[in-house]
Amino acid sequence: MQKEPVLLNLKSVPHLVGEGILKRAVSHFAGYSKVFVLVDENTERFCLPVFQDKLPDIHFAGLIRTKSGESNKNMQSLSDIYEQLTHFKAGRDSLLINLGGGVITDMGGFAAATFKRGMDFVNVPTTLLGQVDAAIGSKTGVDFKEYKNQVGLFADAKAVIVDIDFLNTLDKRQLRSGFAEMLKYAFIMDVPLWEIMGNRPFDMLDSDLYRMVVRCVSDKIFIVEKDLRESGMRKLLNFGHTVGHALETFFLKADRPVTHGEAVAAGMICATRISARWPDFDCRSPEFIYEMIDRNFSRLVFSEENLPEIMRLMQQDKKTKAGKLHFTLLKKIGNAMQDVVVPEEKVEESLRFYLRN
Ligand code: GLY
Repeated sequence: MQKEPVLLNLKSVPHLVGEGILKRAVSHFAGYSKVFVLVDENTERFCLPVFQDKLPDIHFAGLIRTKSGESNKNMQSLSDIYEQLTHFKAGRDSLLINLGGGVITDMGGFAAATFKRGMDFVNVPTTLLGQVDAAIGSKTGVDFKEYKNQVGLFADAKAVIVDIDFLNTLDKRQLRSGFAEMLKYAFIMDVPLWEIMGNRPFDMLDSDLYRMVVRCVSDKIFIVEKDLRESGMRKLLNFGHTVGHALETFFLKADRPVTHGEAVAAGMICATRISARWPDFDCRSPEFIYEMIDRNFSRLVFSEENLPEIMRLMQQDKKTKAGKLHFTLLKKIGNAMQDVVVPEEKVEESLRFYLRN
């Protein structure tokens, strides 16, 4: 059973993964005139005490507070972060620690990279989704109007510290959300991961989880190392996300927010349906995939009448080019192909399939 801490490098950025690894990461927070930590109300309550317990000698010049949730990943929150950094007289020789999930690492990374033309930041992801995906790979930014991640830039963290102990702070829904992203790696590139994920429930904290997190971190690093700016291979990571992002925005606008993982799980069912009916693809047993997702995620509730709106949202996605919808499709489990142009009718059919079956 793999339990040893792991150090993986993505170009020059160290990624430390392990139980209690934060204790060994003290050098990554040293040498700055001021250290700030960005938290939301949840990570302030549940994760900051864990952080301070492990690293009691780190003195924060200020807590930078923001509100949790995708609906707050916007220009207003960004402006509030700049306001607080200004109030505490942060400078280019300061450090911002992003303590939280994907919203915190995306928005905190962007705030740090742009404040006074750039200060250092370290990501300490506390959600499973953040640990296996969002905190890795230099994507930073915020949503703008109804467009996800519309404003942002690629900016490297100084380090990414993945301490598995933070997963104890999550509720089951958040944990499942991260599992959806892990499943994505299994589908696109990692058959052994698919085998480990096998019959286990997606809301259990056990010793296999550590092994799975390490696999996902190294899968993501493998991809980003080859294609940081998402001109090719990185698009594989969008499996389930073309439909998933549209559904996430649809439910957010309808005031019935779903987690990112719940939306991606639905998107992966649709992308698998399209893959299974795609000529030359060998995705012969899609039932295994549907069944595995359904065992862990309830189907999202919407109706055929909502399809025009969902398709409209998909058209606005960054993955849509010249009005054409681009998908990552599965050739078979562990092997996928990015950038397949899929006609709208096939996408709509997959959504109807999702509603019917
Ligand atoms: N979350 C997808 C990516 O980092 O490219």
